[in-house]
Amino acid sequence: MTEYEMFSKDEVANNTQPKPRQLNRRRILIICICIISLIISIVAITLIIKFAILKPKQKETTITTTITTSLSTTKTESSSTMSSSSSTRTSSSTTTTTTMTTTQQSSWSTTGSMNNARSYHATLILPNGKVLVTGGNINRTYLNSAELYDPSTGTWTTIGSMNTVRTRHTATMLTNGKVLVTGGLSDTSDHKTAELYDLSTGTWTITGSMNNSRTQHTTLMLGNGKVLVTGGFGQHGYLDTAELYDISTGIWASTASMNHAREQHAALMLSNGKVLVTGGSGSSGPMTSAELYDPVTETWVLTGNMTKERHLHTTSLLTNGKVLVTCGYSYSGYVKEVELYDSATETWSMTGSVNNARFLHTTSILTDGKVLITGGRGFIGIMNSTELYDPLTETWTIIDSMNNARELHTASILTNGKLLITGGRNYDDDLKSTELYYPL
Ligand SMILES: *[C@@H]1O[C@H](CO)[C@@H](O)[C@H](O)[C@H]1NC(C)=O
Ligand SMILES: *[C@@H]1O[C@H](CO)[C@@H](O)[C@H](O)[C@H]1NC(C)=O
Ligand SMILES: *[C@@H]1O[C@H](CO)[C@@H](O)[C@H](O)[C@H]1NC(C)=O
Ligand SMILES: *[C@@H]1O[C@H](CO)[C@@H](O)[C@H](O)[C@H]1NC(C)=O
Repeated sequence: MTEYEMFSKDEVANNTQPKPRQLNRRRILIICICIISLIISIVAITLIIKFAILKPKQKETTITTTITTSLSTTKTESSSTMSSSSSTRTSSSTTTTTTMTTTQQSSWSTTGSMNNARSYHATLILPNGKVLVTGGNINRTYLNSAELYDPSTGTWTTIGSMNTVRTRHTATMLTNGKVLVTGGLSDTSDHKTAELYDLSTGTWTITGSMNNSRTQHTTLMLGNGKVLVTGGFGQHGYLDTAELYDISTGIWASTASMNHAREQHAALMLSNGKVLVTGGSGSSGPMTSAELYDPVTETWVLTGNMTKERHLHTTSLLTNGKVLVTCGYSYSGYVKEVELYDSATETWSMTGSVNNARFLHTTSILTDGKVLITGGRGFIGIMNSTELYDPLTETWTIIDSMNNARELHTASILTNGKLLITGGRNYDDDLKSTELYYPL
């Protein structure tokens, strides 16, 4: 007989005929066990809530705290950090320390979330420094709502809605201080319509319609008081047509058509006032072709072809006057090649490739002249990856990742030099979240 068996036997023997006093003790024991298990359950539930549910929020707070401390930003930001810290004060110190260590070097911080999640939206900076976002989609619902971001408070406010829902549209800041939105997709068809946002009254009004309905087109404010719209996709397929909107009359007129029909292309105004249109997708797929529009003669001429065919790429005018064309999608998939256009010689040359090929990304020129590329979709899927291009060394360096992976987002340089990223999509989930990049 083992020790264990003996013990059990004794216990059984003792308990075979319980006396009333023993019964009482047992009742007390059961009650005690009940109370103890209740306490354990409560503690367990509290821990689960703390770690599993509140954890992402703590991380956001911590990131804000870290950046506020290391960069000693404005009073408003510090006070909002303090209030959010106190609301999650219960967090265990171990978690906080770990998070702070991993995000110490981060130049990204989350800022206010938009009221609506959106991708395929259009964003621009207003003359008062606020950021306007318009339309886009939440999952498969198209939006007519618009919101304003105030950089001084880091908050978003819903403003009056556009007259119609629009996604894959454009928004352009006019030289008369109004905002023009054009085209895009509605629930039933592509839009010919355009509308104006008046900052002084905060209202949207319908203005002249384009002759063609267009989505995934481009618009640019020219130096002559007219807005140039190019290409896109309409009822008749890929468009080579271009139109001019006169901001003083609110009327559209046709101008010369491009040599090639294209959508998902890019257009940019060169320092000589001409417009460079690059790549895009036409009936035969992604293109290498590029063309120049002269607003004085209202004519298009083909300029050199890019080396790599691409659509859903971006173009940026560098401070040295050259144009940087980044990434996109080609016959062979995601593009990592980057090319430079010299408008003086009208020729292309290759420059450093990005580390992560991508499309549906953004690029922005920072105040120091470097170029920041963010997010998009590549070999590993939708990315949080960001890289910085130095025009002097012509190389790309991987820098801190965004807090969220996203494609179809927007990027705007604020008047304080920070970069604001808004919304976009992470697979099936359209995002409300926005984040700020602090150049270090
Ligand atoms: C408007 O577009 C239609 C269809 O593309 C075209 O036939 C017509 O000539 C255009 N009108 C003007 C004024 O450009
Ligand atoms: C550009 O490429 C097209 C074919 O994609 C070709 O027909 C055309 O000649 C090329 N243009 C130049 C200037 O090389
Ligand atoms: C960025 O995404 C990668 C996975 O692609 C992930 O391992 C990493 O933690 C993410 N970084 C941040 C800052 O969220
Ligand atoms: C969009 O759809 C995804 C998946 O169906 C869902 O997880 C997500 O919450 C939705 N987003 C919004 C803003 O409704």
